[in-house]
Amino acid sequence: MKIANNIVMVTGANRGIGLALVERALEMGAAKVYATYRSAENSAVLGALGDRVVPVHLDLADKATISALGQAATDVNILINNAGLFTGGNLLSDDEEQTRNDFQTNFFGTLAVTKAVLPALKAAGGAAIANVSSISGLGAMPSFGGYSASKAALHSLTQSLRAGLAGDQVSVHGVYPGPVETRLTEGFEMDKTPAPTVAANILAGIENGDDEIFPDALSTQLGPVFMTAPKQLERTFAAF
Ligand SMILES: NC(=O)c1ccc[n+]([C@@H]2O[C@H](COP(=O)([O-])OP(=O)(O)OC[C@H]3O[C@@H](n4cnc5c(N)ncnc54)[C@H](OP(=O)(O)O)[C@@H]3O)[C@@H](O)[C@H]2O)c1
Repeated sequence: MKIANNIVMVTGANRGIGLALVERALEMGAAKVYATYRSAENSAVLGALGDRVVPVHLDLADKATISALGQAATDVNILINNAGLFTGGNLLSDDEEQTRNDFQTNFFGTLAVTKAVLPALKAAGGAAIANVSSISGLGAMPSFGGYSASKAALHSLTQSLRAGLAGDQVSVHGVYPGPVETRLTEGFEMDKTPAPTVAANILAGIENGDDEIFPDALSTQLGPVFMTAPKQLERTFAAF
């Protein structure tokens, strides 16, 4: 699925990986990019990117905005579910509410957006969905186990979508980043891949038709471990 001349939607597009995805999709010749923001003050950054960018309000916790998004973007053929929440909750020691919030955004919100946009994708005669999960969705990271679990659920959703849409000319891609330099990882002392590099690798993976996309330095190392020896990935993360 080529990016050039196609119509892309990126959720959580006002910063981080999402903003880098919008910028890279424009460089690659996307005809139009629907770019979602949650807070009105964050729409200006998207409005400044030129007339191929259509800023759209979306709050994954608000069903009315999800339904309006589906009605506004009937011509989209590449959906990138990027918006996500990292509460950092530990399943054993933290409040269950944090885990519920992780799931509400990362799993239920993504599922609802996908269903809202699906009629357009099915009608396109060739479409793609990319779900931005995490390498910690493939092997649990116990220190933020709630987030890991929500991203594992998103991985499972990605597999269900791939099977369910196989006859509809909709390719489905899972994206499994390691640490990326964005606000989400502020304060984490570790090597992080710049968001523009990650965005470029995600869009290249969609163009290549890759089921699993490992877009940064750490996931490039650990992705193949998951593919060949998932138990080893579990042990590696448990020891972090
Ligand atoms: N950074 C990493 O190391 C890393 C690693 C693995 C996976 N990921 C995943 O990559 C994706 C992008 O993360 P990032 O690093 O770019 O993080 P980020 O800078 O924190 O950006 C997250 C984006 O998601 C939006 N968002 C969060 N909750 C939302 C909601 N309820 N409704 C609508 N939008 C919402 C945010 O909007 P606001 O600005 O309004 O908050 C923001 O635009 C996420 O799914 C994240 O889990 C990131």
